[in-house]
Amino acid sequence: MTSPLTVIVLAAGAGTRMRSARAKVLHEIGGRTLLGHAVAAVEPLAPEHLVVVVGHQAETVGRHATALSPRVTLATQRDQRGTGDAVRVALDTVEAPADTVLVTYGDVPLLQTDTLRELLGRHQEAGAAVSVLTARLLDPTGYGRIVRDPAGDVVAIVEQPDADADQRSLSEVNSGIFAFDAVFLGSALDRLTGDNAQGELYLTDVVGIARQDGRGVGALLLDDVEQTEGVNDRVQLARLGAELNRRLVTSWMREGVTVVDPATTWIDADVVLQADVTLLPGVQLHGASRVGVGAVVGPETTLTDVVVGPRASVTRTHGSGAVIGEGASVGPYAYLRPGTELAAGGKIGTFVETKNSRIGPGAKVPHLSYVGDATIGEGTNIGAGTITANYDGLSKHRTSIGRNCSTGSDNVFVAPVSIGDGAVTGAGTVVRSDVPAGALAVSAGVQRHLEDWVARKRPGSAADRAAQLADTSPPDPSGDLGHPSEEPFA
Ligand code: UD1
Ligand code: CA
Repeated sequence: MTSPLTVIVLAAGAGTRMRSARAKVLHEIGGRTLLGHAVAAVEPLAPEHLVVVVGHQAETVGRHATALSPRVTLATQRDQRGTGDAVRVALDTVEAPADTVLVTYGDVPLLQTDTLRELLGRHQEAGAAVSVLTARLLDPTGYGRIVRDPAGDVVAIVEQPDADADQRSLSEVNSGIFAFDAVFLGSALDRLTGDNAQGELYLTDVVGIARQDGRGVGALLLDDVEQTEGVNDRVQLARLGAELNRRLVTSWMREGVTVVDPATTWIDADVVLQADVTLLPGVQLHGASRVGVGAVVGPETTLTDVVVGPRASVTRTHGSGAVIGEGASVGPYAYLRPGTELAAGGKIGTFVETKNSRIGPGAKVPHLSYVGDATIGEGTNIGAGTITANYDGLSKHRTSIGRNCSTGSDNVFVAPVSIGDGAVTGAGTVVRSDVPAGALAVSAGVQRHLEDWVARKRPGSAADRAAQLADTSPPDPSGDLGHPSEEPFA
């Protein structure tokens, strides 16, 4: 394949048009920073050196860059004196550059590894001094223009402020991505001058120098122009973010994922989906989320770093840092916070919030509950409106509920507390002490009736009138309220 490689990623610029306190290359699309995309594109090339040039907010950007890959080393460009100066600064940090030097930008997020492989392959095959990645734009304003001779060979790159009217009418532009013969690059950088409209050391002038030296200049014209586009402001950030998403969603559909509404589906670059996943409208999958075979997610669901097991379903849910087991069901209207683990066949139902809790196989928390710092055993059913009171105002405590328990509606588990296997709790129980296995715990008082209380306290009210008209015979004891027995409202 390709010979050893030194890669330089330029990321020293201020990015003033972002109008942001955050350095431009630290803005994100598709769940990665712009610099993260740039490093991800060059990493698979396994370069000997991967130098990121930092300058503006050098410390913050540098820390992020080194966290992206163990290969990354930093070069600090104190004053942004131009792209030629930036490459010089980078080369000065490398003891012995590889034969080929690849230069990319930290703010060109859609660039693909395969495109770089093609550029490098052609460059090395032709034995060129320099090869440039170019594109034809409908509006080339602002870019360096590619000047070719009548034979079609590239002779120079002219920056917009230096270009005459004829040159400005050229539509082929410099992407800023170059492959260089390292020896030639070193000598050419020494010959750059700031003799131009911006008083900068232009890396682009290296092309003209190669021609003066009688060396070959290669160019790869890329039809897929978005790959060469840089982010300068937040409008471009959003546009390239949408384009990146369109590409990711399309590629997952080709891998066998059903996406009902691509326009409202957002999938980060590091998300992994298996075959026959269905994404309903309004789904956002962020971070390192993974979705297993046959699972259905959505509509209106946002998951960050969530693992969804095979054939699970997740409906109208907001979740992060959670694991959902095979065949489990979540939502509608669930809020899964970090540390939630729902085992296979389990259920986290409607208006339920969970945090740092393990819900065992087949266990169910179906309705209106908060489950935090809890362990719920296999096959247990939690009654509607249950709260694990995990916080005593000073510290957090755990609730442990055994297997095959059945807890009543409107229970409060005042942690730390533990409920034995097979235990049952009555409706409205406030569980303050441990419940033995197989016991029934009740804490609500015996029901009392103060007869005719309404007539005495609220005479003439609507309630009083209704009571006067009521059939006073006792209710039919066999009256079926229609609740299924596996969800007792004990
Ligand atoms: C540059 C190119 C232009 C090309 C365009 C593509 C030059 C002289 N011009 O122009 O031909 O069409 O990119 O987007 O190379 N940077 C540094 N240090 C510096 C200056 C820049 O690290 O001293 C970095 C920036 O952070 C950025 C990249 O280099 O990632 C490009 O810099 P920028 O100032 O945006 O160059 P342009 O004027 O757009
Ligand atoms: Ca620019």
